[in-house]
Amino acid sequence: MTVALVWAEARDGVIGEGGGIPWHLPEDLAHFRELTGGSTVVMGRKTWDSLPERFRPLPGRRNVVVTRQDGWSAEGAETARSLEQALRAGSLSNSGDDSPDDTGEPTVWVIGGGEIYRQAMEFADRLEITEVDVEAAGDTRAPDAGAGWTREVTPAEGWLESRTGIRYRFVSSTRAGATGEPDQS
Ligand SMILES: NC(=O)c1ccc[n+]([C@@H]2O[C@H](COP(=O)([O-])OP(=O)(O)OC[C@H]3O[C@@H](n4cnc5c(N)ncnc54)[C@H](OP(=O)(O)O)[C@@H]3O)[C@@H](O)[C@H]2O)c1
Repeated sequence: MTVALVWAEARDGVIGEGGGIPWHLPEDLAHFRELTGGSTVVMGRKTWDSLPERFRPLPGRRNVVVTRQDGWSAEGAETARSLEQALRAGSLSNSGDDSPDDTGEPTVWVIGGGEIYRQAMEFADRLEITEVDVEAAGDTRAPDAGAGWTREVTPAEGWLESRTGIRYRFVSSTRAGATGEPDQS
């Protein structure tokens, strides 16, 4: 199993404000759908709450929600009482169509929020980060990935521009050494 974390962050590492995301970037939502489609997604209960009801559960994905609350349940979500339990659930693909990585292993996507990313970092094999070129006030920040990650930026130079006018770019990372690539962090 590959554990992948995916998030979008503003210039100063902000990922959330007041239970939501303080920008609108449709191209990044499409990118997120493409990455996570067919896979298990693991999220904290607050991120589940932040999803608009019409997108809950996230369609075409197995939705696992981590909560400490006894008896919490929501239609379309599986509940896990710890992150480890959620990741274990993700490793046991129920449909057999979890999008495989290069080794044919299923990828479990950790999709937030801040509290869950921080705890998941030690298990992470892969990071997919969208850097959003905006200044945003926020109450939730991206986790510290630490050293030892490769860094592949798309586009290699400059930025993509959203139809909303926001500039953004994608940064893909794996643990340095895991793929034989040099450590650029
Ligand atoms: N920019 C992005 O890419 C992105 C992505 C996702 C989310 N977000 C934003 O991030 C914010 C939400 O993040 P957050 O840090 O406040 O909350 P969160 O990580 O989504 O959820 C936290 C909740 O998860 C549960 N939890 C955490 N650790 C647990 C553990 N070890 N065992 C069992 N349950 C555990 C608890 O739920 P209970 O309280 O139910 O026990 C806790 O209150 C929102 O603003 C959202 O929009 C941004």
